[in-house]
Amino acid sequence: MSVHSEVKKITTHVLQEMKRSGEKISMLTAYDFSLAGIIDDAGIDVILVGDSASNVMAGHETTLPITLDQMIYHASSVVRAVKRALVVVDLPFGSYQGNSKEALQSAIRIMKESGAHAVKLEGGREVKESIERILTAGVPVMGHLGLTPQSIYKFGTYVVRAREEEEAKRLIEDAHILEAAGCFAIVLEKIPAALAAIVSQEVKIPVIGIGAGNGVDGQVLVLHDMLGINNEFHPRFLRRYLNLYDDIKAATAKYITDVKSRDFPNSKEQY
Ligand code: KIV
Repeated sequence: MSVHSEVKKITTHVLQEMKRSGEKISMLTAYDFSLAGIIDDAGIDVILVGDSASNVMAGHETTLPITLDQMIYHASSVVRAVKRALVVVDLPFGSYQGNSKEALQSAIRIMKESGAHAVKLEGGREVKESIERILTAGVPVMGHLGLTPQSIYKFGTYVVRAREEEEAKRLIEDAHILEAAGCFAIVLEKIPAALAAIVSQEVKIPVIGIGAGNGVDGQVLVLHDMLGINNEFHPRFLRRYLNLYDDIKAATAKYITDVKSRDFPNSKEQY
């Protein structure tokens, strides 16, 4: 019997138990009540209210513009739908870097105003103090290393990170720093699979990958990407389970035709 099928509510301790027993963790993003309710009902373990909402919900080119208020709006919509999954919320750009007191205030606002269960933030040693301070308030923290989209203007591109030895060594050190600081899990984004597997073996906390291969403890994808709502994004790591862009477009075209031709509504579809 898997941990997943026995548990009524996913907690950070359940994720730890999944890693210990070798059961992979499933995680997806969600930003709204309707889709969060469906993926929770399907049995997803973790729902990330990602700052990727800035891209997929608001149409921004990067994750930088989304605000703390907007993240809280998305998070509270998701929390209202969720019965079982652990809900983790991204601390947005500018709400935690360089000032651990502000990081704590931002995390407290998210927890108090949305009812979420944990926060996530990007970076390694440079955010250690923020992580430790957030934890003093009892708020669980998930780390995020590798390609960290809030630093896109420093990287200059979205290519695979840590291919070179020096960056790979630093990433492994950062993973240990995040674990020692008290993170309950780490997301690794777009790094070589072999490196991600080493990190997963070296730390005791769960490591959840996106574009980080199969040697980690779980996988996360952006929901809109795996459902094929966004038809312009085709990275190698993405598996599409639906092609909703084409399905929604075809359904909309059919609806337009039915309205124009007076086929809709018919006699059974009216009062
Ligand atoms: O914001 C997000 O969707 C994320 C995932 C890509 C891990 O951080």
